[in-house]
Amino acid sequence: MNLGYWEDFWKKNTEFGGFRFDLDGESQKDIFKKLDKKRHTQEPDLTKYFEQLLLEGRDLLEIGCGIGTDLREFASRKARVFGFDFSPYNSLISDYGLRLYGLDGVVILADAEALPFPDCCFDIVYSWGVMHHTPNTDKAISEVYRVLRPGGTAAVMLYHKGIQYLLIMGRYILKLCWLRMRRREFISYAYDKTPLSQIFSKGEIRQLFHDFDITSIQINLYGGLKDHRYLKVAYKLFQIFPLLKHIFGTQAFITAKKRLESGKLNQKPEVVCPLCRTSLTKRDEGLVCGNDKCAKKFDIYKTIPVLHDYNLDDVIVTGDDAMKEKTLTSNLYRKWVK
Ligand SMILES: C[S@@+](CC[C@H](N)C(=O)[O-])C[C@H]1O[C@@H](n2cnc3c(N)ncnc32)[C@H](O)[C@@H]1O
Ligand SMILES: [Zn+2]
Repeated sequence: MNLGYWEDFWKKNTEFGGFRFDLDGESQKDIFKKLDKKRHTQEPDLTKYFEQLLLEGRDLLEIGCGIGTDLREFASRKARVFGFDFSPYNSLISDYGLRLYGLDGVVILADAEALPFPDCCFDIVYSWGVMHHTPNTDKAISEVYRVLRPGGTAAVMLYHKGIQYLLIMGRYILKLCWLRMRRREFISYAYDKTPLSQIFSKGEIRQLFHDFDITSIQINLYGGLKDHRYLKVAYKLFQIFPLLKHIFGTQAFITAKKRLESGKLNQKPEVVCPLCRTSLTKRDEGLVCGNDKCAKKFDIYKTIPVLHDYNLDDVIVTGDDAMKEKTLTSNLYRKWVK
């Protein structure tokens, strides 16, 4: 696994559904509306779920918020939101979206494996379709545990070893792709054309969340599959026979609670140094860790504090560059896999 390539991909990745954003423009609400509609067509049960989730508290962190569709929805339902992504462009769009709609919230750029937040400071940590893309999912989940308040709720969607995984594995074996490509890389590209997508069974998920009290693991089928060339038939069948969906569904939605006896009492959510977890102060054009022994400096990219070791000169991309990168990745996939 080439981690340099993994990092580079996500830094340049944008989830803006082919729409072009002019971040200084005035009339962007229509684009956001279209993106929100697309999201809720693909995931029709989300709104109902968000309502339930927000009964658990108000301080919410979203890990890998992409272009901020869900973050905006949480903020509009009066949650106090913090969101971050690994991609500078996505983080900017998330921040821009909050401001466009007059919503409060903090958006930063950070890594799911080293959260720049104190222990025990969130009621809810939410993450949709992100932690299977990070190399150390177990590390990311232990970070979720750390930043949750005792009794706080983790709500996480991870890919599940369902029908799509079985078909891909079938292709990998029968078409002798294993002669040319490692399984992990093949699955990643075939699943969603990313350099790293890990797919988990229910047992593996239970292991990942072993510190938590798991409330439920709900298996669903990704709504976008209803337009899939082959899987649209399965999609229809699964609607008629829900048991099939529970076994062969493609997404696992995990709700789990941090044990009451673990951790300190409530801390205030704030952005801290990811290395030593000390508060940050503004200095020059950026931020600096208040711990003299650490004194790590962090940049601010446009409006976004960068709480991760980045060389921003390498990663700032325009929408067009990002689209090229996506095309490049899928060409690579076609060359390797087909
Ligand atoms: C498939 S998108 C999902 C975005 C959003 N949650 C949604 O549902 O639309 C995956 C996101 O995870 C982010 N990501 C991947 N690895 C990450 C990491 N280690 N830390 C933070 N974000 C990460 C990517 O930049 C990307 O925006
Ligand atoms: Zn520090």
